[in-house]
Amino acid sequence: MTRLGAAPAAGDLDAAERMGLDELRAVQLERLQSTLKHAYEHVPHYRDAFDRAGIKPAGCRSLADLADFPFTTKADLRDNYPFGMFAVPKRDVRRIHASSGTTGRPTVVGYTERDLDTWADLIARSIRAAGGRPGDTVHIAYGYGLFTGGLGAHYGAERLGCTVVPMSGGMTPRQVQLIHDFEPSIIMVTPSYMLALVDEFERQGLDPRESSLRIGIFGAEPWTEAMRAEIEERLNLHAVDIYGLSEVMGPGVAQECVETKDGLHIWEDHFYPEVVDPVTGAVLPDGEPGELVFTSLTKQALPIVRYRTRDLTTLLPGTARPAFRRMARITGRSDDLIILRGVNVFPTQLEEVLLGTEGLAPHFQLVLTRDGRLDAMAIRVEARADCTADRRAAAAAEVAAAVKDRVGVSVSVEVIDPDTLERSVGKLQRVVDRR
Ligand code: DLL
Repeated sequence: MTRLGAAPAAGDLDAAERMGLDELRAVQLERLQSTLKHAYEHVPHYRDAFDRAGIKPAGCRSLADLADFPFTTKADLRDNYPFGMFAVPKRDVRRIHASSGTTGRPTVVGYTERDLDTWADLIARSIRAAGGRPGDTVHIAYGYGLFTGGLGAHYGAERLGCTVVPMSGGMTPRQVQLIHDFEPSIIMVTPSYMLALVDEFERQGLDPRESSLRIGIFGAEPWTEAMRAEIEERLNLHAVDIYGLSEVMGPGVAQECVETKDGLHIWEDHFYPEVVDPVTGAVLPDGEPGELVFTSLTKQALPIVRYRTRDLTTLLPGTARPAFRRMARITGRSDDLIILRGVNVFPTQLEEVLLGTEGLAPHFQLVLTRDGRLDAMAIRVEARADCTADRRAAAAAEVAAAVKDRVGVSVSVEVIDPDTLERSVGKLQRVVDRR
């Protein structure tokens, strides 16, 4: 497998991946103008919101003018539940997905035939950027169903010309058996569930480094460079990041290229990114961290204008695909932010510390409690199987000191037995809030 980790041949790239910047900006403007018109003419919510802001689609004469248009939030989708945001007649909607919606109504999204076609193309592009090629076997362990991960990955892998194993999440021992028997070279799964699969390999007496897997395409939840190193080391594969959200499409909005592994290229021919100040909403220049906002450029069923993702990142210049900007690995969602006695803490910061500490496994949970008027956080982290009692005590002290030093808060740390925390099969929920 000499191509492993190699860039695709220029001739294999989509035409859009080879565009120059001027050409891309021209395509984006034309598509943006038609998206704004489509949304205004067919979705009462957008008509009202634009009218209230005193702006018409024709007011968008340059990409910078997009900043004059109002934001769209998850609440807008919920308020228009189930189909109020659709811009095409229901009979033209070929598929529906929905977010789990742990509280209240789920968020419903829809796709026309052309939307599904674009999505498959973009996942195919993403898998190729990750190092996959026609003929590869792809094991898909993202959940199938209303979640966009499974079916989104599925049709894109088929589109690229791969052999698909539509496994979905769960049945962990069987996942490992089928990876062993079917010999996929690519796996698409959440990074947290990948860890559970690695543990299961070992439980079955199999060496994960000897498996057929050569590329892992991981996303749907935040993960860190430390986690990449852990997964690559334990599985002997290339671990790359895939990003997306159902409101904007699903997986495949942005993808990390295997040859650079330096953040995710946004497929800007279909999605226009902005980064804004999460508090004021002001557009920030590229290079400054803030909240990611997306406007779809080609979607028919659910055009989305300036959608507030709540995801925090930075826009960076393109590298492996020069015209497309990159987004830095997501540090967290503004919703995940824990404010502990006035200090901002993201679970990813703690993941970095824990994975850098000898003797600790990458499985941990954050328990928030309130003692009187003071919030407290306990990190419960599993020891690795070979970690001695002395090492456990030392590791706990090291983590507490490193968190105090690097993040600026005092936490208690409990090192628990291997295999005690429940493993997630999909998106991981790390925080247990008992306040
Ligand atoms: O999680 C789509 C997806 C499926 C992406 C499979 C990648 C792989 P939602 O359920 O709508 O869609 O959740 C979207 O998940 O706003 C982020 O907060 C988070 N997320 C997705 N990908 C990443 C990533 C899918 N690579 C929400 N890194 C997003 C960090 C991610 N967070």
